[in-house]
Amino acid sequence: MHFLITAGPTREALDPVRYLSNRSSGRMGFALAAAAAAAGHSVALIAGPVTLATPEGVHRVDVTSAQDMFDAVKATLSTADAAIFSAAVADHRPANPSAQKIKKTDAALTITLERTPDILGSVRGVFGWRGFLVGFAAETEDLLPHAREKLERKGCDLIVANDVSQPGIGFDSSDNAVTLVFRDGGIRELPRMAKDELAALLIARIVAAAAK
Ligand code: PMT
Repeated sequence: MHFLITAGPTREALDPVRYLSNRSSGRMGFALAAAAAAAGHSVALIAGPVTLATPEGVHRVDVTSAQDMFDAVKATLSTADAAIFSAAVADHRPANPSAQKIKKTDAALTITLERTPDILGSVRGVFGWRGFLVGFAAETEDLLPHAREKLERKGCDLIVANDVSQPGIGFDSSDNAVTLVFRDGGIRELPRMAKDELAALLIARIVAAAAK
């Protein structure tokens, strides 16, 4: 199979030296890319700014902002059979980034934010892609209702629901604990495990589900 996987955070510029971002390390997405390649699949990994090495056999495209990631996904998606969106894409960006470094003043600074493109939400309607679509849902409350709602609204086949309120899992950690929410109503809660182990399990589940 051909996989497209997004990973890591995005950075949204405030000025040439400052940005808005989040704590995603890219480890979950890179583990998925490594597991898919190790299982013999072709992998395009679209990575936000992270410090991880490219897994063996993976074609990596580096991006910075949500708009860059949107453009890279759009350019790559048509050749994929399955797409996994594990990136923590910024939902908002500064509406008017400054061309020069913003000067310090004594007055309070107000920054207007605007929405970034919803990449996962564009896959079915805007890009018209019909492959096996996996989204992540990072939630701090009402995990399963929010995951189910995202699955329906974004046309996913599977949502990997990630309770990011728990210490030691999720953002910037070596472990994760997720619940799989399938389009047919099936739900599978997985115990905490290393991201490498979870990635291998997820790739096997996705390959099996996509073959149905
Ligand atoms: O990178 P690590 O440190 O290993 O951490 C892993 C992780 C916690 C980042 C990962 O497991 C995870 O939960 N990723 C999803 C993070 C997220 O931003 O979730 P969300 O619920 O805000 O977004 C829902 C889905 O839409 C995600 O698949 C996201 O990639 C996608 N999205 C979101 C916004 C946007 N503008 N475009 C998108 O495609």
